[in-house]
Amino acid sequence: MDEQQHIARCIETIDTYRGGYFNDRPWLREAFGSVSRAHFVPERVWWPERDEDGLFPLLDRTTEPERWLDAVYTPRIALITQIEDGKISTQDGPARSNAFTSSISCAAVVVQMLHHLDPQPGDNVLEIGTGTGYNAALLAARTGASHLTTVEIDPVTAERARTALHARGVSAPTVVVADGEDGYPARAPYDRLISTACVQEIPPAWLEQMRPGGTILTPIATPFGDDALALLVADGHGHARGRLVAAVSFMRVRSQRERRPWRELGWPRLPDFELAAGPDGQNVRQR
Ligand SMILES: C[S@@+](CC[C@H](N)C(=O)[O-])C[C@H]1O[C@@H](n2cnc3c(N)ncnc32)[C@H](O)[C@@H]1O
Repeated sequence: MDEQQHIARCIETIDTYRGGYFNDRPWLREAFGSVSRAHFVPERVWWPERDEDGLFPLLDRTTEPERWLDAVYTPRIALITQIEDGKISTQDGPARSNAFTSSISCAAVVVQMLHHLDPQPGDNVLEIGTGTGYNAALLAARTGASHLTTVEIDPVTAERARTALHARGVSAPTVVVADGEDGYPARAPYDRLISTACVQEIPPAWLEQMRPGGTILTPIATPFGDDALALLVADGHGHARGRLVAAVSFMRVRSQRERRPWRELGWPRLPDFELAAGPDGQNVRQR
């Protein structure tokens, strides 16, 4: 199967998921169909599930091109590009550590997030977590590359993404090596902010750098096991409000890796929920 056939099959599978993320976003279907995900994935990556020896297997494009390409277009699989901030190398082979610090997010989640973000042509967009540059390429296809700023904390990762974007003629986005929790004030205010790394608390700088009515989409840690995608509308004066639109699982932004008490983060406590069960099913609500 060639790459175009893989893309077509991936779109077909994502179309069967509840939510129909492509349906009312023709630009997204077109961008997904024309931007090569394979171009942005390194030659050697780790599969995110342990094998029978308890190791994360390595996929190598050179030795197993078919298997590698199949993995790239498996809709619900993120491929791991960095472990322990680069202390472990793909040259070391299969990995035992699950301290994943960079990846290409799974295709289905990339599409789901861009659906919710709903960027418009000409929007000034800030992405936190450039990673491979794939999501940035999809964003640039919609907003125009010169309207996109993408921030990556890891210099090696950022440089690789910059090169990959340039090789595809996407040379205009501003790729910045910095801590994305500070946003990027030089290009503010933003119409859309998308983070592809998870926070426990929304960084104040993000709120301050939004235009009134601007949209923030970010994974946020929850007390329920999964992370949630928070879709917020900013007022342009340091506040934002919105909904949790989906359950996801993401790696943390670097300085929010250490778990904080939920009560400090504004979450209800478990005793704040009431569960009623009966023959008709059960119901959980906040008291
Ligand atoms: C899931 S990956 C991003 C996937 C990426 N959007 C793509 O299309 O390949 C998360 C990225 O966030 C980066 N990251 C973590 N903390 C960060 C921070 N504080 N500022 C900027 N980037 C950060 C990681 O280095 C990693 O590359």
